[in-house]
This record gives sequence, structure tokens and C-alpha cells, in this order.
Amino acid sequence: MISEKEIIQAANIIKNGGLVAFPTETVYGLGANALNPSAVAKIFEAKERPSFDPLIVHIALLEDLQILTEGIDERVYKLADKFWPGPLTIVLPKSKIVSDIVTSGLNTVGIRMPNNLIALNLIKHSQCPIAAPSANKFGRISPTKAEHVKKQLPNIDCILDGGSTKVGIESTVITIHTDGFVILRQGVITKEDLEKVLPQSKQKIENNEFISSPGNLKSHYSPNKPLFLQGEYTQKLNTKNAVFLSFGKKPASEFKHIEYLSETGNFNEAAVNLFEKLHLLEDSEYEFIVADSIPENGIGIAIMDRLRKAAHKYL
Ligand code: TXA
Ligand code: MG
Repeated sequence: MISEKEIIQAANIIKNGGLVAFPTETVYGLGANALNPSAVAKIFEAKERPSFDPLIVHIALLEDLQILTEGIDERVYKLADKFWPGPLTIVLPKSKIVSDIVTSGLNTVGIRMPNNLIALNLIKHSQCPIAAPSANKFGRISPTKAEHVKKQLPNIDCILDGGSTKVGIESTVITIHTDGFVILRQGVITKEDLEKVLPQSKQKIENNEFISSPGNLKSHYSPNKPLFLQGEYTQKLNTKNAVFLSFGKKPASEFKHIEYLSETGNFNEAAVNLFEKLHLLEDSEYEFIVADSIPENGIGIAIMDRLRKAAHKYL
């Protein structure tokens, strides 16, 4: 699909302080050399991202954890052993090498090893960790295909097209307290998965941990067409020109079209389809979208979290 040569060319762009959009298993990322502050600044500019929103640093080798962090203990290695490469971001105390622009001035840095060969090869050839948020404009729908990146960020130096992403929603973000983990952003690695390695912390989450994790902003992932949650849209709206985004159920009223996140109510399939369908529907003829409710257990929590935030601005 993508040759080694293309990855090396992209890596040269990273080395020279440019931006490269690349696939991960979750969503496409917009990458820059994490150790070059002026390269990282270009990410914020391209995304129109507020500087208070910290970036995730992507690594290909476990050794890089040592370089980027300070004072981590064996619990981090246990998590890495079980979940990396994969859709888990661990927020850890940062070392001095990580500049404030990456972490929005926080003394912690979010790190993950993506489970995608193009991403891992890009990092290896770039010979540096890569800071990368999702490759969308701030607050908009995350990209699961190269064409989604092109749509929102047409002026990026380079987009590596690795086809559709396998997971479909962003990584689970956690931080580690003395007594266990705290989930800062939901993803396909669930509380139950994490509990196989570490207990969930019983300590109160500090306010600044949540503020610093804009995955927690109320509005995010918004399509440019109104999206309502099933049961939350006003009955006065005429659904005859609208589309129902179903998780297997039939809608109560009449819709012009039904699009399926999953016909059988499968969470993994719904996660893969979520942003893909939102991109498709925002560009469609339908007036607005009504999303089915998703049972809030397991991966359903992460999917419903995205839908709620995507719908928030239309409440
Ligand atoms: O799957 C993913 O995580 C994708 C791919 C590209 O890796 N990346 C991604 O990045 O979703 P982004 O920038 O869209 O979301 C990063 C979120 C921040 O908004 C914040 O919620 C959390 O990760 N985060 C990053 N660094 C943090 C830190 N030091 N403390 C707390 N939260 C942090
Ligand atoms: Mg994002």
C-alpha cells in the first residue's frame, strides 16, 4: 500500500520540522518531531487548536519512555507490556526534554505506542518521538481515512494513506495514582481490561487532571450538520428529511434513511464506523442526524461519550 520509500520521504519532512498526517490503529494523527517546539507549534496552527490542549507523544521503542518521562515505576511497564503497541495513552511525569508546548505547560506527558506499521516505521525513520493529535480541525470529527484528513486539512505537507483505521475511535487516556489508574478519556481499552493489570484508583480525581484533558470538553467531534441523540431531539422536528444512525434498532418515527453503526449491535464494529459515518452524513443531503442510544457498558461508554459530545453543540 505504502512503500518504504514514501515513509522515508515522510520521515525526512518530520526531521526537517514539517508536518505529516499518518494512520494509527485508532484515527489518523497529525505528526511533528516531538522534540522540536517550532515544528510542534505548526500542529496547533494547522488544527486551530487552543494551546491549552496537550498532545500525545507517539513512540516506537519502549526505551523512549525513559527519555520522555521521569520517575516511572514498574506498573507503567506492566501496562505497556499488556497494551502496547495499542490504543492506550498513559499520562506520566515528563522529563525536561519534553517542551511546554507539547504538554500545554503541564508537568506530565501523554505517551502511546501505536499499533500500526506505517506509524511505527515513520517514527523509527524519523529518529524521534512524534507528537500527534488527531488530524482534524479542533472540535470537529476525527479522521479514520486519508480523505477525511484532506477534507479538513488540505494544506498539510504530506498525508500517508494507510486506508481505513482498524479501531475507529481515539485511544483510552489514563493517568496513574498511587493506588491505581484513572481514566481521563474513554476508548476501546475499557476499565475492565485495565483492571486485569492494575486496580482502578479510588482517589478523587483532581480538577486540574480533568481540565488538562480536553477529551473532557463538553463539545467535540461535531459534524457540520445538526446531530441529536435519540430521545433528546424535539419532536417538532420533521424527521422525514433526516437520517437515523442506528445501533441495530429501528427508529420510532419515519426517517428518510437509516445508516447503521452496527446492524447487530456490535461495539467494535460501531467504533470503527462511528467517525466514518459522521463524515459521510455531514456531507449528505439529509437535514440532520439522529443517533440511536448505545448501551453504556464496555466499549459502549466510549462510543456514547463521542456521540454525546458531537451532539452537545446542537442541544
Ligand atoms: O488515538 C489517539 O489517541 C489519537 C492518535 C492520533 O494517537 N490521538 C488523539 O490525540 O486523539 P488528541 O490530541 O486528539 O487527543 C489528545 C488528548 C488531549 O485532548 C487530552 O485529553 C489528552 O489526550 N492528553 C494528552 N496529554 C495529556 C496530559 N499531559 N494530561 C492529561 N491529558 C492529556
Ligand atoms: Mg482529537
